[in-house]
Amino acid sequence: MRSSLISAWCQAKWGSMSTSHGAPNCGWCQAQYNIAMADDLLRYRREFPILDCTTYLISNSLGAMPKGVYDAMHGYAEIWASRGVRAWEERWWMLAAEVGDQIGAIMHAAPGSVSTHQNVTTCQAVVASCFDFSGKRNKVVYSDMNFPSVMYFWEAQRTRGARVHMVETSDGITVPLERLLAAIDEETLLVPISHVIFRSAYINDAKAIVEQAHRVGALVVLDTFQSLGTVPVDVQELSVDFACGGVLKWLCGGPGVAYLYVRPDLGNKLQPRFTGWTAHQQPFNFETGPIRYTDPPYRFMNGTLHIPSLEAARPGAKIIREVGVNKIREKSLKQTARLIQLADERGWCVNTPRNPEQRGGTVSIDMPDSQQVCRELIRREILVDWRPKAGVRMSPHFYTRDEELESAIAAVREILRERAPAAR
Ligand SMILES: Cc1ncc(COP(=O)(O)O)c(C=O)c1O
Repeated sequence: MRSSLISAWCQAKWGSMSTSHGAPNCGWCQAQYNIAMADDLLRYRREFPILDCTTYLISNSLGAMPKGVYDAMHGYAEIWASRGVRAWEERWWMLAAEVGDQIGAIMHAAPGSVSTHQNVTTCQAVVASCFDFSGKRNKVVYSDMNFPSVMYFWEAQRTRGARVHMVETSDGITVPLERLLAAIDEETLLVPISHVIFRSAYINDAKAIVEQAHRVGALVVLDTFQSLGTVPVDVQELSVDFACGGVLKWLCGGPGVAYLYVRPDLGNKLQPRFTGWTAHQQPFNFETGPIRYTDPPYRFMNGTLHIPSLEAARPGAKIIREVGVNKIREKSLKQTARLIQLADERGWCVNTPRNPEQRGGTVSIDMPDSQQVCRELIRREILVDWRPKAGVRMSPHFYTRDEELESAIAAVREILRERAPAAR
């Protein structure tokens, strides 16, 4: 009974590929069945071509490309080639809001509350342009664990009157919550803060930060780049004012699309000064003089839309929604715990929180010669990255097999063994 079930399953899954398989008691089929049943999410592996030839542990940097992107790009070229300029009114103009809603659904945002942009730094600039820094409430509070591009942007706002207050980490892994909350006072205007820290995967207590900000009349800009798609995010439950991130990491959406959620009750009031014709009520009237703002999400956009990237972002967002972030998180916690255990067994330094509630999808491991180890891992088709003060960052996603973690760590051991005589 069980073997016929397995062979039927195998035939359905592998189709013509399984001509040599599918027979009752075929060992290969049984092994595949056992793996798939043990980890239901592995069935999505066939959607990601790169998984056939690499160990892909780098979704913290660039998620694997879904094969649906080939069709999306072909569709884009087809529409441009066949419909020409009519593509704008038939599809492209609406695409920005449509993709915004697809991403928004992953963070429980109301339809129409998410605009799309080219990158997170631009999202921060759009938010900053809604405010005036000349008054008493001009303080901007953030952590030195934020992504540097975002810090560079806010530092540059000092010339516009922003008083930047940076809270420093004491251990290079976490953000000191008490000190951060204490810094958010009645003079604070904005708190741009990463939800998950890119270097260590530490999860900031977004709820506590939003509550403190609201208590004193400040607003929070939550950077969910390293959380959305691997850690559950619910913008409504958090009551967060703004949330932004990009799609190229955990959302498998490729470069060129970032999203900006604006709390709906703020959305119709704010007037971004970083604006353009896309934000106009009648963009095709080409009126002169000041802008007449349209409603969100276009209200927060500005110039001509980034259509190819928007098309490429759709298949990844669809898969993430289908898989479900709760399931992704459940698996991620298990796999990141295993990576930490493997690193501990070898005495390597783990620069990621051990407390699962404080840990995002990445494990940063600093072994000896970690930068060179990273280079050698990539040469061996084990894709990871290296960051100063972090070490090698390994990021399993829903498509990662447990065995890949073991083999990646075994490869590190081998590299270190091979390097040992050279170091002597
Ligand atoms: C938390 C976080 N924010 C922002 C960025 C990138 O910002 P941008 O989209 O402006 O390049 C990254 C990139 O790695 C990141 O990890």
